[in-house]
Amino acid sequence: MKDFSGKIAFITGGASGAGLGQAKLFGGLGAKVTIVDIRQEALDKALAELKSLGIDALGIQMDLTNREQYIAAADKAEAHWGGPPQLLIQTAGVNTFGPAEASTFEDFDWVLGVNLFGVINGMVIFVPRMIKAYNKVNGTINQEGAHIAIVSSLGAFSGFATDAPYSCSKAAVNNLAYSYYEALKPYGIGVTVQCPANINSNIGEAILTRPAHLANTGYHVSEGTINMLKSIHATGMDPVELAKNLKAAIENELPLAIPYDNAEEMLQREFRKVIQYLTVEGMREQEEEKRKIAEEMKGFLQTDTSVVSGPIEPFGQAKSDLEWILPEKRK
Ligand code: NAI
Repeated sequence: MKDFSGKIAFITGGASGAGLGQAKLFGGLGAKVTIVDIRQEALDKALAELKSLGIDALGIQMDLTNREQYIAAADKAEAHWGGPPQLLIQTAGVNTFGPAEASTFEDFDWVLGVNLFGVINGMVIFVPRMIKAYNKVNGTINQEGAHIAIVSSLGAFSGFATDAPYSCSKAAVNNLAYSYYEALKPYGIGVTVQCPANINSNIGEAILTRPAHLANTGYHVSEGTINMLKSIHATGMDPVELAKNLKAAIENELPLAIPYDNAEEMLQREFRKVIQYLTVEGMREQEEEKRKIAEEMKGFLQTDTSVVSGPIEPFGQAKSDLEWILPEKRK
């Protein structure tokens, strides 16, 4: 897909951060944009901003882990624009940090529910509709076919001691994207998964959208940890710049987008790490490389504390009362 003008777009998590950046970019290019989000206030704010930019957007409040709500939102958007999306962008995501060994069922259920099952729900709901409407082989409605983009994370390529639910959700999403990329190729429907690192967004406050029935966590979360995350994300990549990287991958029908010049080097290191897991020598090499990686990560983990008021404390610790966790990993 190269021409976005007049295309029907559906963006999950479109009220904030990366999703709002996509709405601005593709809406600015003439796409008819639906943004869906769990937060009504954020939707209202985003719609006002899009309107001020002259973008015709529809906002729908929904929880993408709720299949009935998701189907109703898809129906509503289809009725509004006269067809299912030609450009489906699945961006909504959440994160929370703590030692893997402190994780509860609910930590996994919430993060995988949104990041993995939310995307699965999007695929199951929209793929049949998109094939029926935009199949290049049998259909004649849109000769450019259609495209599905998913925002994953660079975290998809590694395991992280303090981010297990998130990184496994993103690894699964990458795998899901590659499967659909192969499956939908004969229909002329492209699939792209984008893997960023740090984005200037509101994901530091994702915990505020965690539902009450999944509130039980093993992780220490406080105003201070939220502030720390906010100050890190304030230094992240601009969402519209990130959307431009996604647009280039969609135009070129590429299955993977990584918005950094040294993407290939980063991936080679990640894949080398997996090969190193196989041997004692490999694991020795890996220890040496860890130092280099830690240096590189500093670039992604800078903070801008001017954006927060109130306490700041490190994130990624377990709750204090989990006595089986090493003391240094506990609050
Ligand atoms: P954000 O928090 O600014 O935007 C995500 C949006 O998703 C929010 O508006 C939130 O209300 C919405 N959302 C959360 N749960 C939902 C649900 N159940 N149903 C509907 N909407 C829901 O965060 P950001 O950073 O823009 O996140 C976008 C994507 O980028 C996510 O998939 C995230 O994992 C990914 N990502 C973010 C990075 C970062 O540094 N911020 C780094 C790498 C990937």
